Amino acid sequence: MKFEAVFVASFPSVDNLPGDSRAEIALIGRSNVGKSSLINAIADRRQLAKTSSTPGKTRLLNYFLVNGEFYLVDMPGYGFAKQAKSERFEWAKIAEKYFLDRDQLRAVGVLIDGRHIGLESDLTALRWFVETERPFFVVMTKCDKVKQSEIADHKKFLKSMIPQALGVFAVSSTKGKGLSELRKFIVESAISRNREAP
Ligand code: GTP
Ligand code: MG
Repeated sequence: MKFEAVFVASFPSVDNLPGDSRAEIALIGRSNVGKSSLINAIADRRQLAKTSSTPGKTRLLNYFLVNGEFYLVDMPGYGFAKQAKSERFEWAKIAEKYFLDRDQLRAVGVLIDGRHIGLESDLTALRWFVETERPFFVVMTKCDKVKQSEIADHKKFLKSMIPQALGVFAVSSTKGKGLSELRKFIVESAISRNREAP
């Protein structure tokens, strides 16, 4: 599936986001879970989104235009221990506003570390999307570090715990596992939901 991504711009808040009506798919998750790495992997571009082994790398809402058709949005991570409380609160406010008000947003990918399923901060995020009835899907990252049998168990667990999820995916950005399935899902979610819009 074609997935040509180009960087558009970074935004510090939700006030001046792109004004066109292209659909958006956003990726969130704990700091260091692999959001930016996943964008590079699915776009097959090594340095498109900046990554780091130190949590807290992504600080802004970073917009990537895919196939000239829709935006993929890389976001700062949550649960970043070294971050000041005030900064954390500030980010939570921005994120909440974005998730609740952004009409173009078609679905949110919640990334969770395939090795650590069920962390409180992840459950809080997932519950929030369920309660606010925002469409979301789950991506287990770093699955190169997890046994195949465990991945299958985690998938089953997540599907039963949050049946509201549009999908549950298992990927490895470093090994390229599960990427084509996710790529297809993201493109189709953005495009079909584009067409559904009035
Ligand atoms: P923030 O921007 O800080 O929120 O982090 P992020 O979620 O964007 O994480 P990032 O993509 O920067 O990756 C964090 C670390 O995880 C880096 O050291 C990556 O090399 C590593 N990483 C990302 N994806 C994978 C993967 O699939 N497998 C393994 N083993 N490591 C990965
Ligand atoms: Mg990042």
